[in-house]
Amino acid sequence: MSLGEYTLSFPIWVEFGNGKSKRAGEVIDAKGWNSALLVTDQGIRAAGILDGVEASLEAEGIEYDVYDGVEPNPTAEMVHDTLDVLSGGGYDVVVAVGGGSVIDTAKCATLMKTNSGSLADYEVNTPEDVTAGTVENHTHPLITIPTTAGTGSEVDYWAVITAQEREFKMAIGQPPLYPDGPYLGADVSLVDPELTASLPPRQTAATGFDAFSHALENHVAAGAPELVKPYTKHVMGLVPEYLGDAYETGNMEAREQMLFGSHMAGFCENFAGFGAIHSLAEVTGGMYPEIPHGEAIAVFTPPVMRYNLEEYPGRYAEVADAMGSDVSGLSDVEAAHEAVDAVEALIDEVDLPSSLSELDVAEDDLETIAEKSLDTIEIHDNPRDADAADLLEVARDAY
Ligand SMILES: [Fe+2]
Repeated sequence: MSLGEYTLSFPIWVEFGNGKSKRAGEVIDAKGWNSALLVTDQGIRAAGILDGVEASLEAEGIEYDVYDGVEPNPTAEMVHDTLDVLSGGGYDVVVAVGGGSVIDTAKCATLMKTNSGSLADYEVNTPEDVTAGTVENHTHPLITIPTTAGTGSEVDYWAVITAQEREFKMAIGQPPLYPDGPYLGADVSLVDPELTASLPPRQTAATGFDAFSHALENHVAAGAPELVKPYTKHVMGLVPEYLGDAYETGNMEAREQMLFGSHMAGFCENFAGFGAIHSLAEVTGGMYPEIPHGEAIAVFTPPVMRYNLEEYPGRYAEVADAMGSDVSGLSDVEAAHEAVDAVEALIDEVDLPSSLSELDVAEDDLETIAEKSLDTIEIHDNPRDADAADLLEVARDAY
């Protein structure tokens, strides 16, 4: 059964449904923009995923160029390369067509187009940084069109960019702090399941598990509002139901459900927060840029759950229930362990790695990973307080 289509409007105008990416030309025309820079990567361009978007721009007489220089785990240098192209062309709007790497690069290039200083000036490491109002001007106009069901970046206020000299993934971002306040994020997002049809199995698994982890961390985060919980529970239920099918067969109903889950989890990120899973995974990814984000996430998820559930078993009992485990008659602690088992089964089902050693992370680096994780914004939202010794214990569990 198809999920149909809908429009969701918060500061970001979101359109969801099959074929919605072909609305790009009409949306640009309606906004009174005349020229566009399409930002993407070479793989997406070669696979023909841009074709429908380009045809829709041509149909409306929108002039455009394509920049396909973005690579996985984008760096500050890639943001500046994209900014150079954007600044050189006088484009009215940027259209980012891709996964999290493309969208985050485009978000940061549009941020730097309208704000001064360097990208690191907009790095967020503490809750105070989030509300500091460092972003003075709204980004250059941006439309995001995701091609993976995982990131949620198309509808959130955050981006992750590696500072190579520090081997550290910077969290860049700002939500709107008052009505019509500037924020880092899209003006419009066109969320089209058809664009995820050709995503290879390994990326389908890794990005899909990332979407699950967003719902999970948003659900158990310190201070997560009740508002997000119907959504996070729904996403934690649909991923175990559909990810295996999307991974094994590429079935379009499963892909549609996964993209719905991914962007709803992205929406929730704007109200809740992440936690130690993302702290540890982002730090590991900064030190080992060849590791895909979703694979690092998979490795850290069960160990972080085991650590957190000791203080918050009730929250993890809700996770087990959301995932479809039979928790009747179980104590919260017992049900919370069922949640860990269900997550491990999901990781196994889609052949994701289950240890840091499988990812060729050196055991000698665990201490550095634990220490650097304390410098991330995500650790502040982890439900259970964690110091470097606690995180080292979690990292050893993940090894
Ligand atoms: Fe993630």
